[in-house]
Amino acid sequence: MVTFKLPLPMLLLFLLLNIFVCSSEVLYIPVTKDASTLEYTIEVGQRTPLIPIKLLINLGGRSLWVDCDKGYKSSTYKPAVCNSTQCTFSKSHACGDCIFKPQVQPGCSNNTCYIWGENPLINSFHDRAELAEDVLTIGSTPGVPLTWPRFIFSCLLDQDMMRQFANGVTGVAGFGRESPVSIPNQLALDSRFTKKFGICLSSSTQSRGVIFIGSGPYSVYNPKKIDISNDILYTKLIANTRGGFVTSEEYYIQVSSIRIAGQDIPLNKTLLSINKKNGVAGTRISTATPFTILHTTIYDAFKTAFIKALPKNVTIVEPPMKPYGLCFSSKNIKSSNVGPDVPVIDFVLHKPSAFWRLYGTNSVVQVSKDVMCLAFVGQDQTWEPSIVIGGHQMEENLLVFDLVRRNIGFSSSLKLQQASCSKYDNTIPV
Ligand SMILES: *[C@@H]1O[C@H](CO)[C@@H](O)[C@H](O)[C@H]1NC(C)=O
Ligand SMILES: *[C@@H]1O[C@H](CO)[C@@H](O)[C@H](O)[C@H]1NC(C)=O
Ligand SMILES: *[C@@H]1O[C@H](CO)[C@@H](O)[C@H](O)[C@H]1NC(C)=O
Ligand SMILES: *[C@@H]1O[C@H](CO)[C@@H](O)[C@H](O)[C@H]1NC(C)=O
Repeated sequence: MVTFKLPLPMLLLFLLLNIFVCSSEVLYIPVTKDASTLEYTIEVGQRTPLIPIKLLINLGGRSLWVDCDKGYKSSTYKPAVCNSTQCTFSKSHACGDCIFKPQVQPGCSNNTCYIWGENPLINSFHDRAELAEDVLTIGSTPGVPLTWPRFIFSCLLDQDMMRQFANGVTGVAGFGRESPVSIPNQLALDSRFTKKFGICLSSSTQSRGVIFIGSGPYSVYNPKKIDISNDILYTKLIANTRGGFVTSEEYYIQVSSIRIAGQDIPLNKTLLSINKKNGVAGTRISTATPFTILHTTIYDAFKTAFIKALPKNVTIVEPPMKPYGLCFSSKNIKSSNVGPDVPVIDFVLHKPSAFWRLYGTNSVVQVSKDVMCLAFVGQDQTWEPSIVIGGHQMEENLLVFDLVRRNIGFSSSLKLQQASCSKYDNTIPV
C-alpha cells in the first residue's frame, strides 16, 4: 500500500492544487438502517491493511472516532504529537501520556493530544479521545472510491462510550457543524467538495439510503435521473452557543409553530426558542433519535390536535408497545402515494409560508395488521431541546446542510416525485 507522508501544510497545499484540475463533484456515502435498533450507520475502510468499520452517524459529532480497545492494528496509525499542527488544527483541548493502560497502544499513546468524543445514543461525552491519523476510504464519487491517506480521527478506549451501538458498530461518524475535523469539514479540504452535505435516509432496512457530500447535483432515479437538491425549502441554521460544548456542533432550526391538518396547535412559544441563558429548548435535528421527541406539553397539544383531525370512524386503541403514546385502528385509514392518509403535519419555520410538511409515511408507523401509531414521542425535555427531529421523520426526504451559507433545507417526501433515497446514482460516469 502506498501512503503519502506529507506534513499537514503540504497536504493542504496538495489538496488546494486540485482546484485547478478538478471540477466540483459529489461524494456518495451509502447509509444503512439497522433493523433491530433503527440506528443509521455507514461503512468506511480504515487502517493498513484496510478493514471495514461500521460507524453510527452523529450529525452533531466533532470527529470520526473508533473503539481502539479491541485490537486496533495498523502500520499507518499515527497519534498526534502534543502541540503539532494536527492538534492545533483540530482545536484539541488537552494533552498527555498513557496512564490507563500498562503499555502504550493506539488510543493510549504518550505525548498526544485529545479532543472530545461523544455517543449521542446515551448523551455521553469523553474528554480523552486520542487524536490520530490513518488511512481512510469513504464513499465514492459515482464509481470511484475516495481514499484519504491521512484522515484525522480519534480513538477511544472507554467501553462505556460504546453502549447501545447496533451489532457490529465500533465507532461514530461525526458530521458536526464547527469542528474542523468533522467529516464534512475535513472532506472539504479536498477542493472537489464544498462544505455542504445532504442526508437522504431510506425507510427500508433492506435498501441503503445515502449521504451526499459536496455542492450537488444530488441525483436519484425515478426512473429518470433527477436532481433532488433542486426543489428545497431553506431555513436558517441556528448556532446554539449557550449550551457550551454539548451543543456547539449541533444543528438547530427555528420552528415557529406546528400545524396539524392546517391548524396551528396551541403551544408555549417560549419552548420553541433556544434559552439565551443556558442553551436548552429550541429544535435540534438528530439522526440518532428514531422518532421525533417533543417536550411533554408540546406532545399533549400535538396528540389532542391529531386525534381531533382523524376521521370520526377511526378508533383510538391502547398503545401496544413503547415508545408510542398514541395508537389507533388502521381499518378506516385509506392509503395514498405518501403513505397512510392521516392528517398532515407542518413544521412552520421562519415564516408562515415556509413549512416542512410531513405525510403519513413520515408521521405514523404500522405496528401490527390493524394498529397504527403516531411516530412521535413525548418526553420530559426540561434540560434538552424542546423538539428533537428524528430519523423516521427524515426518511425518504432530502435534508441539506449548507455550512457556508449556514442554512438547512428540506425537500418534503420524495414519494411526491416518485423518487426514493435508495435509488441514488452510483454508476461510473461515462
Ligand atoms: C503545548 O501547548 C500547551 C498549551 O496548549 C502549553 O501549555 C505547553 O507548554 C506546550 N508544550 C510545548 C512542549 O510546547
Ligand atoms: C509513557 O508515559 C508514561 C507516563 O509518563 C511512562 O511511564 C512510560 O514509560 C512512557 N512509555 C513510553 C513507551 O514512552
Ligand atoms: C412556558 O414555558 C416556559 C419554559 O418551560 C415556562 O417557564 C413558562 O412558565 C411557560 N408558560 C406558560 C404560560 O405555561
Ligand atoms: C370513514 O370516514 C371517512 C372520512 O370521514 C370516510 O371517507 C370513509 O368512507 C369512512 N369509512 C368507513 C368504512 O365508513
